[in-house]
Amino acid sequence: MSGRQAPVENWETDFDHTDPTWVRDPYPIWKDLRARCPIAHSDRYGGAWFPSTHDLVSEVAYDTVHFTSRAVVVDNLRPGELDLPAPIGVAPPITSDPPFHAIARRMLLPAFAPKKIAALEPMVRKLCRELLDSTSGKSQFDAADDYTRHIPVGVIVGMLGFPLEDADIFRQFITQVLEKVDMPGEERLNMFMQGEIETYLDKQIEAHRAYPRDDLTSFLLDAEIDGNKLAIEHVRGTMILLMVAGIDTTWSAIGASLWHLASHPDDRRALASDASLWPTAIEEFLRAYAPVTMARLVIDDFDFNGERLHKDDWLLLPFPSANRDEKVFPDADCVILDRQENRHSAFGLGIHRCLGSNLARMELRVALEEWMSRYPDFELSDPDSVTWSKGQVRGPRSLPMRILA
Ligand code: HEM
Repeated sequence: MSGRQAPVENWETDFDHTDPTWVRDPYPIWKDLRARCPIAHSDRYGGAWFPSTHDLVSEVAYDTVHFTSRAVVVDNLRPGELDLPAPIGVAPPITSDPPFHAIARRMLLPAFAPKKIAALEPMVRKLCRELLDSTSGKSQFDAADDYTRHIPVGVIVGMLGFPLEDADIFRQFITQVLEKVDMPGEERLNMFMQGEIETYLDKQIEAHRAYPRDDLTSFLLDAEIDGNKLAIEHVRGTMILLMVAGIDTTWSAIGASLWHLASHPDDRRALASDASLWPTAIEEFLRAYAPVTMARLVIDDFDFNGERLHKDDWLLLPFPSANRDEKVFPDADCVILDRQENRHSAFGLGIHRCLGSNLARMELRVALEEWMSRYPDFELSDPDSVTWSKGQVRGPRSLPMRILA
């Protein structure tokens, strides 16, 4: 699907987050924008803004008066073309605005409490070990194909109580939502209107209604707001959110961290020989390779830091660029495994801050620990053939590794 849009010649006035140059290495582009044009604009996607500094990203993230979350993935559909009932939105709470947002978020909190997440760690470790077992004896393999991409999908499918063999259905759906964003609007609309994922979810919901279990699907079916069970659209929407928010994001964070370790031997050796580095190293990988850029829509025309924003303009919210802002993070482009001050915003800022951050951190830590204990020494077998995902979630989708020890 790439190459549908014209190549970008000017990032200040015509940026496109699906352009191959941006996809391959966005950091120099963002650095230049932060210095010269902190709020870039593009007419693409019906009009979009890109605030790149930490201050601007933070200002938008905390402002729910001028910006709505009812659509959070920039594409060629104009708002209103999909069913986006404010303030709930299609995938609550991430697409909800106040005051409903707090209600939908509160309802989900118990499912992500630290104790619940800690209880999942043995399952994640077992999954990682089995995946690594399947690579044993190979001196070269694709770490994205054989390892990283299976971990978060296995965890979410397990949490929801769906059959593990259905993981491919989710991966395909997530690619449609997150990567096929530069399709013509009508084609994208048709793709979603087929409703395959809804049909699949309805089947799972029916099975759980017949035989309730101790999983997230039964939790959602039992949950109440103001004494009423959730509407079926709310249950489905939250399931979709957990798939979209929990799978590509974590897969990307694990992959980018492995990519870093594979291409930085000093860091790899330091982490292999000094276990005390793990806590700060995990936060540093999250800062430097934060995978998630969110989006907002402008609610009404207003002036924002010298720019006139118009109703229904898109605005990208690049937490990864905020995390590389030198004003907040000295040597921001350097990965410093023992960085002490690290108040990064990989998990967002404000009311929508990531609900799954405990789970994401645990998965990232366990996946890297298990990899490093099995393969303490490794490198990219062909650095030029690494590919990165396109759109608002960034991570390696092909990661050819050579095992050295
Ligand atoms: C490294 C992995 C992850 C990263 C970097 C990440 C990042 C983010 C970010 C930046 C937001 C803020 C959205 C906004 O401002 O609009 C967010 C929200 C959210 N994330 Fe994550 N996420 C990750 C993993 C997960 C996982 C594993 C789950 C759960 C399965 C999850 C569930 C959510 C939910 C439910 C929200 C919406 C919260 C709300 O709207 O109140 N995330 N995430």
